[in-house]
Amino acid sequence: MNVKSMLEGPDHIEYVVKDVEGFVEFFKMFGFEVFRRTDHHHGSVEMKLPGNDFIFEFHAKEGSENLGIEHISFATHDIDALAAELKAKKIDLDGPKFIPPTDRVIFNCKDPNGFKFQIASTEPVAIEKYKKLRARASDTKKFFERKP
Ligand SMILES: [Fe+2]
Repeated sequence: MNVKSMLEGPDHIEYVVKDVEGFVEFFKMFGFEVFRRTDHHHGSVEMKLPGNDFIFEFHAKEGSENLGIEHISFATHDIDALAAELKAKKIDLDGPKFIPPTDRVIFNCKDPNGFKFQIASTEPVAIEKYKKLRARASDTKKFFERKP
């Protein structure tokens, strides 16, 4: 496997917002529809355009998060292989781990600015494997607070 051939495209963009319902109404104005509401981040709303699988996720600000795009997540067909390739390149990862409210296996690494760069998988094999190992939100928080 080669890191260059392992991303399928964007999976979702996560927005931190002042007013979740205000954003829902704003995006509805452009034709977005509510895909689902989850308890991720104490209440997230996922929205999509009809006929398009790309997800925009909105949730309220938590802790030291900044308003705006919190991260962009990219889909991969083989999250274990991609994680192994990146670890071989000495890239520090905080997963893979299963995130129950979103039904995804994800890991984060830091982009050259030190911000979150997320990889996600919705492959049933990966979900089954990582479902047993519960991720804790504090682990991700610690990962981004750690000095290089
Ligand atoms: Fe995400």
